[in-house]
Amino acid sequence: MIKKIGILTSGGDAPGMNAAIRSVIRAGLNAGLEMYVIYDGYKGIIDNRIEKVDRRYAADIINRGGTKLGTARLPEFAQSEVQDKAVEILNNYGIDALVTIGGDGTYKGALALSRKGIKCVAIPGTIDNDVASTDYTIGFATALQTVVDCIDKLRDTSSSHQRCSVIEVMGRYCGDLAVYASLASGSDIVISRENPMTEEDLFEEIKKQLKMGKHHIMVLVTEKILNVHELADKITKECNIEAKSEVLGRIQRGGTPVALDRYLASSMGVFAVDTLMNGQTGVCIGIVQNELVATPIEEALQMTNKSNKFIKHMLCRTR
Ligand code: F6P
Repeated sequence: MIKKIGILTSGGDAPGMNAAIRSVIRAGLNAGLEMYVIYDGYKGIIDNRIEKVDRRYAADIINRGGTKLGTARLPEFAQSEVQDKAVEILNNYGIDALVTIGGDGTYKGALALSRKGIKCVAIPGTIDNDVASTDYTIGFATALQTVVDCIDKLRDTSSSHQRCSVIEVMGRYCGDLAVYASLASGSDIVISRENPMTEEDLFEEIKKQLKMGKHHIMVLVTEKILNVHELADKITKECNIEAKSEVLGRIQRGGTPVALDRYLASSMGVFAVDTLMNGQTGVCIGIVQNELVATPIEEALQMTNKSNKFIKHMLCRTR
């Protein structure tokens, strides 16, 4: 039986992480467990930045963006000696279980610690929606709303000036933010890893849409595929329309979590504590077809993302 649970957030922050922290703390305390917070991800274990908390710690954070615990990326945590040090420090506190909130880097850390005897459950918290073992990650819905709000604003100026806006959207190696935002914002073209397009095809498509009578064009591009500034210059030269590039950047990660992210975070938090209390370890929580599930992290890390193959067709049909 576990007695003490530590909780940490790691990787890029995501709106809704605080709601998950609150839920884990409250669910643990209500089950009679001792709850500990760890600051700045796995680094906080190594640096001994660990604190026992009561229910007041989780008060008034359900609606706050970012993460109260702070976050960090710690590539050195891949090293076995660093993991051993973490296990030793957790053992000194008597912390026998961890809930870690983040993306796949966070999952790898949890898997490593679970193999070394600390019971670990991971919760998917990232705006990228790039965790294949869940339909949605905490933070995705809020970031999507932020992206769509930004595109709405860009649409005003793009249409007033009859320009082509080329907009870079976050997502790391996953196109979900750009793909969902394209349909939700009425954008004209989306380029993501799952929906690639050559420059020549893009120019042809823009020319075709201008011929159809469009007087401005919105193109969304997932980050890390191409340089949107260079692409805008090329479109200006090739397509007889002035193109401007925009990088939405970390604005996409901030802000008050929308209700759906708070709902996901709160339900996954309770489920994570129950999962640990049921004796499971090395698993990650997900929501699949509206059911909370626990999947072995090892399996989750090997799954590939479900991409929206119909997006081009849908954009065409709604043009
Ligand atoms: O994983 C979330 C994310 O925002 C990605 O979309 C992006 O590629 C990355 O983090 C940026 O991270 P950082 O703020 O550390 O540069």
